[in-house]
Amino acid sequence: MGLKIKLFLGFMVLNFCESVMGKFVVEKNSFRVTSPDSLKGTHDSAIGNFGIPQYGGSMAGTVVYPKDNKKGCKSFDDFGISFKSKPGSLPTFVLVDRGDCFFALKVWNVQNAGASAVLVVDDTEEPLITMDTPEEDVKAAKYIQNITIPSALLDKSFGEKLKKVISNGDMVNVNLDWRESVPHPDDRVEYELWTNSNDECGIKCDMLMDFVKDFKGAAQLLERGGYTQFTPHYITWYCPMAFTISKQCKSQCINHGRYCAPDPEQDFSSGYDGKDVVIENLRQLCVFKVANESQTPWVWWDYVTDFQIRCPMKEKKYNKECADSVIKSLGLDSKKIEKCMGDPNADSDNPVLKEEQDAQVGKGTRGDVTILPTLVVNNRQYRGKLAKGAVLKALCSGFEETTEPAVCLSGDVETNECMEKNGGCWEDKASNITACKDTFRGRVCECPVVDGVQFKGDGYSSCVASGPGRCKVNNGGCWHETKGGHTFSACSDKGDGKCVCPPGFKGDGVKSCVDVDECKDKKACQCPECSCKNTWGSYECTCSGDNLYIREHDTCISTTAAEGKSAWTAVWVILIGLAMAAGGAYMVYKYRLRSYMDSEIRAIMAQYMPLDSQNEIPNHVSDDRA
Ligand SMILES: *[C@@H]1O[C@H](CO)[C@@H](O)[C@H](O)[C@H]1NC(C)=O
Ligand SMILES: *[C@@H]1O[C@H](CO)[C@@H](O)[C@H](O)[C@H]1NC(C)=O
Ligand SMILES: *[C@@H]1O[C@H](CO)[C@@H](O)[C@H](O)[C@H]1NC(C)=O
Repeated sequence: MGLKIKLFLGFMVLNFCESVMGKFVVEKNSFRVTSPDSLKGTHDSAIGNFGIPQYGGSMAGTVVYPKDNKKGCKSFDDFGISFKSKPGSLPTFVLVDRGDCFFALKVWNVQNAGASAVLVVDDTEEPLITMDTPEEDVKAAKYIQNITIPSALLDKSFGEKLKKVISNGDMVNVNLDWRESVPHPDDRVEYELWTNSNDECGIKCDMLMDFVKDFKGAAQLLERGGYTQFTPHYITWYCPMAFTISKQCKSQCINHGRYCAPDPEQDFSSGYDGKDVVIENLRQLCVFKVANESQTPWVWWDYVTDFQIRCPMKEKKYNKECADSVIKSLGLDSKKIEKCMGDPNADSDNPVLKEEQDAQVGKGTRGDVTILPTLVVNNRQYRGKLAKGAVLKALCSGFEETTEPAVCLSGDVETNECMEKNGGCWEDKASNITACKDTFRGRVCECPVVDGVQFKGDGYSSCVASGPGRCKVNNGGCWHETKGGHTFSACSDKGDGKCVCPPGFKGDGVKSCVDVDECKDKKACQCPECSCKNTWGSYECTCSGDNLYIREHDTCISTTAAEGKSAWTAVWVILIGLAMAAGGAYMVYKYRLRSYMDSEIRAIMAQYMPLDSQNEIPNHVSDDRA
């Protein structure tokens, strides 16, 4: 039995490999030597199939070729070698030779020694190949998960030149540039994920499941915004003709050996069969098709994650009944989905799965899909860690600068540059407010919005809260202090947003406001009968005897005489006012009357005799006024 299984599996894989060998696309990124002059120029290099290529970015460094452990197959610790670059110096890129061990192990060893990138020099003259992950190696799979530095393969002749220059003692500076590795033909990024509904295949399945759960939010945001067009894909194999009626093919395949998947437990006699996996894969494809038809393709992410959680193989719920309950709770049309799935026992093609098998074959810039999971972005195979931040970064670099959606500039695409010295941006440690933002293009220093309050400034040396509500956040960056139950603040929502010390204080308003000693500075309470006592932010003034201190006028008045005095003052004011009004009215009246009479008389007299002077009337007026 055991031998038979192996034979059968081998058959499936072999059968598939034939088409694989023909075509494999190498992702190239440009590798530029910036010094010395003798090597200056751009060269191709192939991106490693693990680690995080810095999609959308570039990285500069100094190349080091280790004296020992030149192939990097052993831990550099054993040789007392460390590649940690000193603070402020360029990152170290380590050159290692190909051979003796997995590419991934070399990269892992170099990463552990503190380098920032790995350059592997090919050992034969050949076109560039992709440095792939070792398949089926459990030990390797564990550390591959933790590879975070990028790696690139250089061709032999160029690598030899580099080594020679380094051995001559020259400093070699290079730049790795991933900016053009994702083409951006339009303002929408197309991407596809080759996945599997099988949740019991060990590390790889767990990693895929975790990724889907983690990435769901960002994927849905991008899809709803029309920024991306996502398509899920599922790999199936076909059973070789001679075996279609075998027990194995019957349990692993549907549609008479046309669409197969390996047995989840690698045991044909127990648990779920490959057939169950194919059927669930088909259902997930149909969920996508039906959701896509109703313009809600992002529901696929909900279905897939809900199914993982609600219908795991472990709990024996990986079945139609459980799937139907998920479909129902998501409000999908189950009849349409059933129709799309067709009859798994029919001896004919299933159009949906047929399309998937055809799509597995490489086209254009994309190679054949053989590895699960595989992510294809803008028709190029994604090489890198299947993790939210890294994938989002790859998707985001598919947009032209300035056309990228907000999620690309959010904290989801962390480059962690803010972790170190806050990325050189402004920060207020006390209130934990920072201007540093990790984006896929690297960190930016941009004054933040905190609780709806916009901070303004250059983002590097200063950010100050501005606009309404600014005093609520960190007191607008202004001075404030509480003493003995009194709080004073230099922040005001009104005005131009500057910090101004409140009355009774002086200072810059930002760092400090100092109490003004009104008594000493002779600002108040200076009358002879006053006695002055300074307080924080104010002063107290008392008058001797019965006298009362009137703060507004900064004067002392007698409490006994005060009332009468003020009453008499009022009376006098009224009387004088009345007299003045009366006098004024009388004068106006008299002037008007007089001038009227004058003009009348003059008119009458003019009829009898000529007047020799016109100055009479003004004289009269001025006389009256005198
Ligand atoms: C990988 O990283 C995880 C979490 O940081 C850690 O628990 C694990 O031991 C690491 N694996 C290896 C092989 O270093
Ligand atoms: C999903 O729908 C869009 C249009 O709404 C269509 O262009 C696309 O081909 C569909 N995808 C699939 C896989 O059916
Ligand atoms: C500051 O804020 C970040 C994120 O909001 C949080 O992770 C961190 O613990 C905070 N630090 C302090 C000292 O409050």
